[in-house]
Amino acid sequence: MYTNILFATVSLLAVGNCYPGLAGGTLDGHGYRKPGPGDRRSPCPMVNSLANHAFVARSGKNISVDEMVNAIDVALNLSPLSSRPVVETAATTSTTGYPNTFNLDDLKQHGVIEHDSSLSRNDVFFGDNHRFDEVIYATTAAGLSAGGPVVSIATAARVRRARNRAARAVNPQFEFTPREDTFSQFESALYLAVFGNGTQGDAPMRWVDIMFREERIPYNEGYRRPTRMISNDDILELASKVAAAAPIFT
Ligand code: HEM
Repeated sequence: MYTNILFATVSLLAVGNCYPGLAGGTLDGHGYRKPGPGDRRSPCPMVNSLANHAFVARSGKNISVDEMVNAIDVALNLSPLSSRPVVETAATTSTTGYPNTFNLDDLKQHGVIEHDSSLSRNDVFFGDNHRFDEVIYATTAAGLSAGGPVVSIATAARVRRARNRAARAVNPQFEFTPREDTFSQFESALYLAVFGNGTQGDAPMRWVDIMFREERIPYNEGYRRPTRMISNDDILELASKVAAAAPIFT
């Protein structure tokens, strides 16, 4: 019995350490630091946030599929069932020489996950498809804020469609098929799921903004890893709600 109690206590302590941001937990080596010279970053604001908090290597280099899947679980409590397929797709862009690892900037390869009409990046046609673009994001942020302090599914969907129309209007090589549409729906679903209320959306705008603008997990503003796991079904449900609220292909 004592062995069981000891085991339970040690497990609880371990959980406290593994899951920073939980009540009683600390950031324990997962403090925020901007990337330094030579560090690699991706077109995804959340993947970059995970590196900026050392849930994956801060360098953004030679990240294994398991390392990324585990980071998403530990930091965000998003089911590996949901993250693993996208991480495995990400690994197909690898330039490390090893198919099971990738550098974060490998993810900018156009047409694998990266697509036109991102909310915070420019299209590949204009040269840089992976760094945060202040001008593009300003329009996104204005649209997201217009709905008030929380981003509803309807607002997220409207902003996604508006950005799509704006990008289509100026990019002579604009490319956006149902495949890209699916990725884009999932990206909106993911930020709504991670920061919002179950499958209802309503993500605090301040948190969403910090993810995009600073590539930081908003612990200082109150974010905590949810105790309930975000399931693959949650993501599918949110993605279909986003698609239905403001369809891009009608
Ligand atoms: C928990 C998880 C995640 C969240 C909240 C998230 C969020 C987002 C968001 C909001 C975007 C759109 C950025 C924009 O339009 O400007 C995005 C894009 C992207 N994400 Fe993630 N993501 C997550 C996981 C992942 C994973 C696991 C990968 C692969 C390792 C990934 C790879 C990408 C890539 C390559 C893009 C660029 C797509 C584009 O062209 O806009 N993301 N992500």
